[in-house]
Amino acid sequence: MDPDLRKTAAQVLDDQWRPPGFTCPNATTYPWLWLWDSCFHAVVNAELGRADRAVAELTCALSAQDGDGFVPHLQYLDGSHAHQELWGRPRTSSITQPPIYAAAVVELAERGVEVPDELVDRSRAGLRFLLEHRRRSPAGLVQIVHPWESGCDHSPRWDDLMGGEFDQGEWFDRKGALLATIERSPGGAPLHNPAFPVGSVAFSALVAHGARRLGTHLGDRSLRAAAEELAGDLFERWDPGRRTFIDDGPTSMGSGRVRTAEALLPVLVADPGRHRRIVGEVAAELDDPDAFAGPYGPTQVHRAEPSYSPGSYWRGPSWPQIDLLLWWGLRSVGDVAAAAGRLAAATVRGAVTSGWAEYWDSDDGAPGGARPQSWTTVAVLMDQGNETT
Ligand code: GLC
Repeated sequence: MDPDLRKTAAQVLDDQWRPPGFTCPNATTYPWLWLWDSCFHAVVNAELGRADRAVAELTCALSAQDGDGFVPHLQYLDGSHAHQELWGRPRTSSITQPPIYAAAVVELAERGVEVPDELVDRSRAGLRFLLEHRRRSPAGLVQIVHPWESGCDHSPRWDDLMGGEFDQGEWFDRKGALLATIERSPGGAPLHNPAFPVGSVAFSALVAHGARRLGTHLGDRSLRAAAEELAGDLFERWDPGRRTFIDDGPTSMGSGRVRTAEALLPVLVADPGRHRRIVGEVAAELDDPDAFAGPYGPTQVHRAEPSYSPGSYWRGPSWPQIDLLLWWGLRSVGDVAAAAGRLAAATVRGAVTSGWAEYWDSDDGAPGGARPQSWTTVAVLMDQGNETT
């Protein structure tokens, strides 16, 4: 463990700490609360021994949960009315992001943090909403209602439904339009979008992973069973030829097959016995310099994909939070520990070389997006795993 790394991480988080108790992702570009970012910040704070901040941030992140269990992904806690028209409501967004809060509760508890019951209950309710009320795809995957719910906003996985070639401006307009077609519960929770009915392997993997971790932690058999069922459906989506998991729904014959790093996230719920071969292939892809591997962390899009663009937002560079999740998945399977260690070491190198950027070029660590970005402090979690370089 590198004490300097931990010191800088603590500084980045301190500088971006905001009332009433959350870390903004970046002071200028992202001044508000984003759901999955805050969950990562909470785990890093727990790792740094700052239990109060860890609990405060998770509390804040889950505080806008509604009666259906739905958790909005953005909160404007400074009283700003920005984007109110876009979301059709004040103070929060009207869609969610991956439910990292469930894994975060367990990560905090494992570090000796006393997690209030209310946080545990809210995490469970958030998962239940996604597992029981969110529409499933024909193959049983959890649908997202909007690309922003994935957290991987401009991933080539969405290309088929975004009306053609990637264009930042046009995509933004299309994303605005897609908000209008979301079908909601009477209370306003997003359930389904007929214009974007994507069974996302990445999002489903994060739901299953959260449910497995929290279910195991609490001894909640029904949560555990729901996780295992979803994990089983996810492993049916493995394509041995393309060596990726395929999304279900309208993109399954097209952009839902693009090889992206986030599409490998089902490794998080692999059964070490049954899925050993697939996990080995995922690790090999992430470790192969002609596929994803890079000296500063894995690329987010496979290098041989036509859409691969090493410097572009969600079209190629390395993203620290995706790298962390992949590492969590790989390190739980013994055979691939060396590849997992290399991935972790490369990501830590990328975080430092890029100056704690939001994302960076896998080949030279050149920074991209906002800087410093709070979630890049997840490097301190991965610093423990870099036994192999
Ligand atoms: C971008 C990312 C999203 C993240 C947000 C704040 O919109 O795509 O995943 O939550 O920035 O960091």
